[in-house]
Amino acid sequence: MSKLWGGRFTKKTDQLVEEYTASILFDKELAEEDIQGSIAHVTMLGKQGILPLDDVEKIKDGLHRVLQRINRNDIEFSISDEDIHMNIEKTLIDDVGPVGGKLHTGRSRNDQVATDMHLWLRKRVVEFVDMLHKLQSALIEQAKANLDTILPGYTHLQRAQPILFAHHMMAYVSMFGRDIERLQDSYKRINMLPLGAGALAGTTFPIDRHFVASQLKFDRVYENSLDAVSDRDFILEFLSHASIIMMHLSRISEELIMWSSTEFHFIELDDAFCTGSSIMPQKKNPDVPELVRGKTGRVYGNLVGLLTVLKSLPLAYNKDMQEDKEGMFDTVRTLQGALQLFAPMIKTMKVHKDRMRQAVNQDFSNATDIADFLVGKGLPFRQAHEVIGKTVLYCIQQGKYLLDLTLEEFKQFSTLFDDRIYDVLQPENVVNARNVYGGTATSQVTDAIGRAELELEKT
Ligand code: ARG
Repeated sequence: MSKLWGGRFTKKTDQLVEEYTASILFDKELAEEDIQGSIAHVTMLGKQGILPLDDVEKIKDGLHRVLQRINRNDIEFSISDEDIHMNIEKTLIDDVGPVGGKLHTGRSRNDQVATDMHLWLRKRVVEFVDMLHKLQSALIEQAKANLDTILPGYTHLQRAQPILFAHHMMAYVSMFGRDIERLQDSYKRINMLPLGAGALAGTTFPIDRHFVASQLKFDRVYENSLDAVSDRDFILEFLSHASIIMMHLSRISEELIMWSSTEFHFIELDDAFCTGSSIMPQKKNPDVPELVRGKTGRVYGNLVGLLTVLKSLPLAYNKDMQEDKEGMFDTVRTLQGALQLFAPMIKTMKVHKDRMRQAVNQDFSNATDIADFLVGKGLPFRQAHEVIGKTVLYCIQQGKYLLDLTLEEFKQFSTLFDDRIYDVLQPENVVNARNVYGGTATSQVTDAIGRAELELEKT
């Protein structure tokens, strides 16, 4: 079979070169978008009088048939036709005859492939925003069911101050909220049309780029033809936003894994999201969060990979840019896999409220509050800190917690103590004392849930 570009050549391409340079094995993923772009392009060629309208109709009908055949898996793509663009064009010409060869008028594969990538990614970004909303809903659901669940909050993975489990869930709602904002912002730069840039300099045909943009529902047209075919920033942005989402997922994964351990025993993941051990019958392993944590690495790798491909690349198109695809497809698949499982996993996890409460009762995470109590009595905070530090040390030596001390014992450290401290030290009171906007007090978390639900309703 001859090449679409064979005219200038006198020799056949080396078989290994064909295999090395072909992208069809992975870019067949772009088939639907490629045909969508071609239909818009050929419609414009007809409107501008560049092609006769009956040729346009034949080509459009042919493209629809090619798409149907692709969807039925009825086309055998060939490596010697290099990529999805030429495989489709070849199949079209086989179907409609030489008139199919008019499709590529005023167009280059360079602006064509860029257009396909914009169309493809646009669709996925919309899906990701939706998936992130679902994850937020699952987290909010757990928050609402756990407005009375208190657990130790940690810094340095050392118990710090008690917080509501609901507050912890809502922290993730905020994080995924920023991820949604980032994707929505990047949409502006994804939703742009490169087509009409030609190979690099524009085209001699009187095309109408804005018409093609409106056909394909793009908001804008690239200003500069060189930039249009060279730009892969929109993919880099997506890969970096995906990396941040995976980083967030890996942080929550790490917590779920820790909390599932016998040592914490704060939660239990549903059986449907865990697997067993082939040798240890007692095991229930949190494989899903572990794999999400692990797959974060490849998503970062895809970002660094493409950044490196593009570094120092001269304008305009270079074959190096064909390397933009596999990493992007892989990141999309990896993120889809993670998000798809995460929302139901969060929804179905069992929260061991009693166990969390027991942990809170057996720690010093209420220590800040008695320091604040002494401050209320007029003691400078630094001195109060010192007093409570000594009190805690005494407790550790005695094998007691703060609430176990008698007032007499407290008074050894400061005469400012009175019996109101027993109230101050109760975990509920410690939590509810943090009644500032964004704090862990029940009323603040209830408000935060309300605001988050309102945001979700808008979508
Ligand atoms: N398969 C190529 C890619 O994915 C399409 C563009 C090729 N353009 C060219 N002039 N070789 O980048």
